[in-house]
Amino acid sequence: MTNKMWGGRFSSGPDAIMEEINASIGFDQRLFAQDIAGSKAHAAMLAKQGIISKADEKEIRKGLDAIEAEITAGTFTFSRALEDIHLNVESRLKELIGAAAGRLHTARSRNDQVAVDFRLYVRDTVDHLDAQLKDLQLALAEKAHVHAATIMPGFTHLQVAQPITFGHHCLAYVEMLARDRSRLADARKRMNESPLGSAALAGTSFPIDRHDTAKALGFDRPTRNSLDSVADRDFVLETLAASAICATHLSRLAEEIVIWSTAQFRFVKLSDKFTTGSSIMPQKRNPDAAELVRAKPGRILGALTALLVVMKGLPLTYSKDMQEDKEPAFDAFDSLSLAIAATTGMVKDIAPNEKEMRKAAASGFSTATDLADWLVRTLKMPFREAHHVTGSLVALAEKKGVDLPELTLADMQTVEPRIIRDVFKVLTVEASVASRRSFGGTAPKNVKREAARWLKLLKA
Ligand code: ARG
Repeated sequence: MTNKMWGGRFSSGPDAIMEEINASIGFDQRLFAQDIAGSKAHAAMLAKQGIISKADEKEIRKGLDAIEAEITAGTFTFSRALEDIHLNVESRLKELIGAAAGRLHTARSRNDQVAVDFRLYVRDTVDHLDAQLKDLQLALAEKAHVHAATIMPGFTHLQVAQPITFGHHCLAYVEMLARDRSRLADARKRMNESPLGSAALAGTSFPIDRHDTAKALGFDRPTRNSLDSVADRDFVLETLAASAICATHLSRLAEEIVIWSTAQFRFVKLSDKFTTGSSIMPQKRNPDAAELVRAKPGRILGALTALLVVMKGLPLTYSKDMQEDKEPAFDAFDSLSLAIAATTGMVKDIAPNEKEMRKAAASGFSTATDLADWLVRTLKMPFREAHHVTGSLVALAEKKGVDLPELTLADMQTVEPRIIRDVFKVLTVEASVASRRSFGGTAPKNVKREAARWLKLLKA
């Protein structure tokens, strides 16, 4: 069978394999709403400009509405012989309204059509991801507000470093997600120009109004170069890059949830909502959701890499290679969306085990820095010397099998005779976190204030 849409020049139909490799309808049917919105804007503009009649435009609009309803209801029959969403819609339009359908494609090509559809789709995706990220920030800021003074160990090298608060840790992710959102917003700003009306590549001889269609579709303005309009997919690349960074942030939190919920750490407990059991070991509660969030950056970065490789070295303007831009991107955006939803669920669900976290925070000589700072402040010791003295005190405590606050004053004075009882005030984890009042520090007062600030911002 010859292709119904441009059969004129072709005497025989495509080979079955040709049809299979060529068709994108299996995945680009996702763009139906954007495709129909683009077509309506185009038809309305054609009528305003007197390029098609008002009557034809009305027929086209009614037909497109009917098609949208059919697709939404699941009664539309997609045909692989019709290649892609654009031709599937146009062909159905012809069945529904007859000759007027043939005027819709005036001054347009599938090259600008797909460019506008995909921009609209990615823009919608960015808006959706942004709303989801905001919800996750809210969940984290709420946890931070409740746990502004809940003490846990802060780690470097996954070794206990200094006591911090759980709230402070939650707010670290709120900051990362804020940057993720601003990266997406940046990408959105740059992508929000309409390629519609660039036609195949060179523009058109019809007196179209690209400003009109840009405005109708919520774009800030039309793109300025018809070749660039149909040839680039950097808006997808940028959004994928921002998505990959965001997924990487989520994976770090996921990894922490995995570690924290082990029997060795016991910092947090996840409810049955976000864990699974083992088919053989009845005692197990596995953090599968966290593990999957941890794994997602693989496919998202994979999608970015795949599209960079597709685009690299492609001569201007459109080449069919570019049809390969969609599947990995769809998968990446779906994956990120699911990962954000799962992370939000886990954050809301997570119950910190304050007793265990405090115990761990007090272990591993975590207030050694506080001791060194005390030596500097009280004895006017240079920090490097204080570091050395503290090291000797840690070695002594290690030898005796005790933690720093459990050393006696006499013990301490064997290392530095000028130490007085006052030193014990700084050796508790509570005193340690309370003293970290520098801007951005972990002091519960700071954390409470920051959490409140975020909550206000996010709820505004
Ligand atoms: N399905 C195509 C794509 O996704 C639409 C554009 C087709 N253009 C063309 N000249 N064959 O890229």
